[in-house]
Amino acid sequence: MKLEDPHRSRPFRRRRTALAGRLGEGIVILPTAPERARNADSHYDYRWDSSFFYLTGFREPEAVLVITLGRKPREILFCREKNLEREIWDGFRFGPDLARQAFGFDEAHPVADLDAKMVELIADQPVIHTPVGADPAWDSRVTGWLNAVRAKVRTGVSAPAEIRDVRAVVHDMRLIKDAHELGIMRRAAEISGAAHVRAMAAATPGRREYEIEAELLHEFLRNGARAPAYGSIVAAGANACVLHYRENTAELRKGDLLLIDAGCELESYAADITRTFPVDGKFTAAQKDVYELVLAAQEAAIKAVKPGAAFIDYHDAATRVLVRGLIDLKLCKGSVDKVLADESYKRFYMHRTGHWLGLDVHDAGDYMRKGKWRKLQPGMVLTVEPGCYIRPGPGVPRHFWNIGVRIEDDVLVTAKGREILTAGCPKRVADVEAAVRG
Ligand code: GLY
Ligand code: MN
Ligand code: MN
Repeated sequence: MKLEDPHRSRPFRRRRTALAGRLGEGIVILPTAPERARNADSHYDYRWDSSFFYLTGFREPEAVLVITLGRKPREILFCREKNLEREIWDGFRFGPDLARQAFGFDEAHPVADLDAKMVELIADQPVIHTPVGADPAWDSRVTGWLNAVRAKVRTGVSAPAEIRDVRAVVHDMRLIKDAHELGIMRRAAEISGAAHVRAMAAATPGRREYEIEAELLHEFLRNGARAPAYGSIVAAGANACVLHYRENTAELRKGDLLLIDAGCELESYAADITRTFPVDGKFTAAQKDVYELVLAAQEAAIKAVKPGAAFIDYHDAATRVLVRGLIDLKLCKGSVDKVLADESYKRFYMHRTGHWLGLDVHDAGDYMRKGKWRKLQPGMVLTVEPGCYIRPGPGVPRHFWNIGVRIEDDVLVTAKGREILTAGCPKRVADVEAAVRG
């Protein structure tokens, strides 16, 4: 690891400067995520806070970013001290001195000094910008510092008059991806697409869902993406109609469709892909009808992703195509407008067509502003993921029972329209069938 590489910290420094410019005055105090116990003395694999990472690039637990704003902002990192004894057991820690150099801070201090230093740092600041209401322990720590400064006002210092939630501004910044982020997201999408292709080739009647999950993880890991971005859904047959199915234990049977919703996390960025395919390499007529309908809805939705469109437009485009198809397949009754109005289609399509994607799989950023849907802008990344889930029930022809299909791609809004980041992953019927046959 080249600790002194100035390029590595550049995108993160740029974002800190941009944040300081947007906030203007006061002090930013942003902690990373805590470590979490799994059982006994084992912990879940550590995952840093996404906004903290966005502004620092720093991945160790027990760290806090501070920026004192004003004409010449000072960027300060609090982190764990070096500890040779702990490093023998757990591995390398930067410690403040190295971290300051490697991550481009003006100052760095041991996190053990945080309470004492914060009382000095927030004195005379007009505003504290910090997460508010995310963690009661953090809220009470911040108000503790505030009260410590208030207790000293007779010595001539003034206490901040306001605490504002810094996440609103950071989340808004995160919504527009910069070139550094897009480079990583393209690669995360590519690795995830390759994992789906590997899963298609591996699926065959008699294997279990978790065996296919293992193929996905294998492809993620061997490409340096060390974790899935969320728990992989590998859902055969009727399981595909459970939207957040996570059991992944059932046997794949001849004639089943397999729905896989899986994406890797690469350098903290998520990909999120769903593909649905027949485990024996050939769609039945009914499966194909539903599949082609969802694909047509997805293609209409992708076309509706463009700068200036409202966020909801692509959902509306997908829903309209699905409703038309559900009527044609005799699963819904009436005109398109009637079925849209009475929402009877929701029996088969009950979720939204997508969400922002980035450091978090359901990424930060508002969908509405003052009661209006956000307009899409170049640099936004979203998923397009219509589906159709047909449970057995009255009025549902038997040949459709337990068919569940979703097709999900990751799409970047560009100045000209869109770029499908996951375009390398097959989805046309013939291409999917060929990939399953290996
Ligand atoms: N995989 C989570 C989602 O599609 O929203
Ligand atoms: Mn998904
Ligand atoms: Mn998704």
